[in-house]
Amino acid sequence: MSFRTAQIRLVSSHPEVYEPCDDSFALVDALLADRNHLLEHHPTLCMEVGCGSGYIITSLALMLGQDSPGVQYFATDINPDAVRVTSETLEAHGVHAELINTDIASGLEKRLAGLVDVMVVNPPYVPTPEDEVGREGIASAWAGGENGRCVIDKILPIADNLLSEKGWLYMVTLTANNPSEICIQMREKGYASRIVVQRSTEEESLHVIKFWRDFDTQADAKETTKTNKPVPARLMESLVSQFPLSSFWRSSGSNSN
Ligand SMILES: C[S@@+](CC[C@H](N)C(=O)[O-])C[C@H]1O[C@@H](n2cnc3c(N)ncnc32)[C@H](O)[C@@H]1O
Repeated sequence: MSFRTAQIRLVSSHPEVYEPCDDSFALVDALLADRNHLLEHHPTLCMEVGCGSGYIITSLALMLGQDSPGVQYFATDINPDAVRVTSETLEAHGVHAELINTDIASGLEKRLAGLVDVMVVNPPYVPTPEDEVGREGIASAWAGGENGRCVIDKILPIADNLLSEKGWLYMVTLTANNPSEICIQMREKGYASRIVVQRSTEEESLHVIKFWRDFDTQADAKETTKTNKPVPARLMESLVSQFPLSSFWRSSGSNSN
């Protein structure tokens, strides 16, 4: 395999645009780790929400490259400077994506509903006061509101609407975002999940979680809704094995309210 993400050059930058950092690298590493599955998946439409410098969408397009011809790429960002920087990054690497300066996927709902085979998101996930969310410029790159979940919680139902039947979502989360609760929420929409990459520092733990539609999960979710039974034991076991117990039990507690 000749692909090297290290070949991605920061050809353009802007003080108000997020430069690729540990979370960006973790997401690209997750995509690389899953590259063979991605090629077998034969995506026709891939999308990034919150493209920043363009590092992720450019990496994805190069990674799938000639082995996956004819793929259409879309990327959105709420920050117009990010859209401009992404455009320059893509162009410098000889790949193309349709870029849209918008809030998550606003204006694309009808056009892309049920069509996105791969969605990648490194959202603003840092816990901040709510009033910092949605500010212009670089603050939009990290400000995530309470538990860092404000933008994430808006993205999840939109992703559910845009993803195709075989669609996959790769999302970066922080332990503070309560990832096990996110997985339970997505499970209620019929998605299974697994951690593709986990990175820990002294201060925080990043997870890149992959979500996909799963018939068993859908059946479990319907059964749970119908009978009002708790989350089935085997799902609990799989989540416990994936997340640190502290975060799991915290989410469990809030879920049972
Ligand atoms: C953590 S940065 C990630 C940037 C890039 N994807 C990366 O991994 O290096 C989050 C990005 O999401 C964008 N963003 C924040 N809120 C958004 C929203 N509501 N809709 C679209 N993009 C948003 C920010 O402008 C920023 O570029």
